[in-house]
Amino acid sequence: MSHQVLARKWRPRRFEEMVGQEHVLRMLTNALNNQRLHHAYLFTGTRGVGKTSLGRILAKCLNCETGISASPCLTCPTCLAIEAGKFFDLIEVDAASRTKVEDTRELLENVQYAANQGRYKIYLIDETHMLSTHSFNALLKTLEEPPPHVIFILATTDPKRLPITILSRCLQFNLKRVPVEQIAHQLQFICEQEKISCETSALTLLAKAADGSMRDALSVLDQAIAFCHDNITEADTREMLGSIEQDAIFRLLQALFAHDGKKLLDEIAELANQTPNFNQVLEELLSTLHQISVAQIVPSHATDSVAQLATLASPEEIQLFYQIALIGRRDLPLTPTPLHGFEMVMLRMLAFKPAAKPSTIPTEIENKMPLSWPQLLTQLNLSGLSYSLAANCSLQRMTEQQVELALSANHEPMLNKKLIDRIEQALSEHFKKPMQLTIQITRNEINTPLKEEQQAQAAKLASATDSIKNDDSVQKILNVFGATLDTDSIKAID
Ligand SMILES: Nc1ncnc2c1ncn2[C@@H]1O[C@H](COP(=O)(O)OP(=O)(O)OP(=O)(O)O)[C@@H](O)[C@H]1O
Ligand SMILES: [Mg+2]
Ligand SMILES: [Zn+2]
Repeated sequence: MSHQVLARKWRPRRFEEMVGQEHVLRMLTNALNNQRLHHAYLFTGTRGVGKTSLGRILAKCLNCETGISASPCLTCPTCLAIEAGKFFDLIEVDAASRTKVEDTRELLENVQYAANQGRYKIYLIDETHMLSTHSFNALLKTLEEPPPHVIFILATTDPKRLPITILSRCLQFNLKRVPVEQIAHQLQFICEQEKISCETSALTLLAKAADGSMRDALSVLDQAIAFCHDNITEADTREMLGSIEQDAIFRLLQALFAHDGKKLLDEIAELANQTPNFNQVLEELLSTLHQISVAQIVPSHATDSVAQLATLASPEEIQLFYQIALIGRRDLPLTPTPLHGFEMVMLRMLAFKPAAKPSTIPTEIENKMPLSWPQLLTQLNLSGLSYSLAANCSLQRMTEQQVELALSANHEPMLNKKLIDRIEQALSEHFKKPMQLTIQITRNEINTPLKEEQQAQAAKLASATDSIKNDDSVQKILNVFGATLDTDSIKAID
């Protein structure tokens, strides 16, 4: 790969190579092809969206030796000289560095002389808003009575700072921020051309970070190439962009779903240590909540962590949290500091999350009472075998310090001291005090969280199968094609 920075190397040379800005290109193309020319063009738009590039292409369109058109040849001496920055009749001025009136006077001194080489003498004035009042006046004089062979192309990020007298004499084109998908697509194209291997998701991250600027996108791509060497991965890119890991979001949500206010604040403080961009954190949060919401409908598509979170809150709660995060993101610029803003968003979610039921333990819960074991279980920090064991138990008794579970005799082989200790520890962590656990073997029929879940799944499956069997369209398809319904393929979804 060459050492030239990508943004310079990949400057669009013709309209067709521009990304986005379709509305501007369409108008310019029509005007050029119909020889409807104007003596002053103004390109506005935020940084790195193509103003200067467009100005240079327009200069080629106007001066190409094959004639005025929207598709300059790019091979004639004029086109080549313009691209090399060596064309006498293209006078590029960076107003940011030439703001004094003498500069502009000097610049416009030669305006009345005909072009040296080209059809038109073109003044490309970048950062026009930086000109002084006097310079604007000098420019205005020329714009009021422009010599026929002179064309002005003005570019600015801040058109509000141009005098109305100038604005009114220019044909104005507003360039837009380039959408993320189009940036990502262009990055993909450039990586292919440069033979750089990359993960698509990494390019999307880079495109998002560029915030609409194609130049910024190419600079972060340059950085990513330096950072990741020959393969741009999502993980490295995330690390490079200093974007916070999804893990942090998972921990925040876990604390929120467990209604653990202290843990939530601790996690926020932890996160704040990494001085993240809280707008980006909210964006990640929104994306995770969206994934959770989808996982509640189609659990099989989710990653393990998302699937686990999806069981800890109701779909209505996720909808509410999403809305809160969305509004929080909108209002973030209004908050005293981004950290305050973010903290309030999380605390608002906490305020709307109903407290988990068994947060205080009654002195003794009798077996006859409807027990809350399945809910309690989801709040314990258990996974793998210890979770399976607990999910196969039913709660018999619970006192201030003791939990007594029952396990049916056919599951006895699962029982071992390590797993009991693990569950005991999870209970102690949850209640924030030492708890003692005993598990008794029973030959009686017991109701366990796992059984409940299986029964619920079976009921859902039965109702799904029923509704498919009774569906009119399905009936028609079965009749027309002489088909039979493969009931094994029906899956119940949450
Ligand atoms: N619309 C675009 N399509 C393709 N590449 C673009 C586009 N806009 C910018 N670029 C890339 O960014 C680089 C810089 O673009 P350009 O100088 O035209 O932006 P600008 O709008 O003039 O920015 P500034 O306001 O900072 O002067 C180009 O060389 C090119 O690589
Ligand atoms: Mg520019
Ligand atoms: Zn040409």
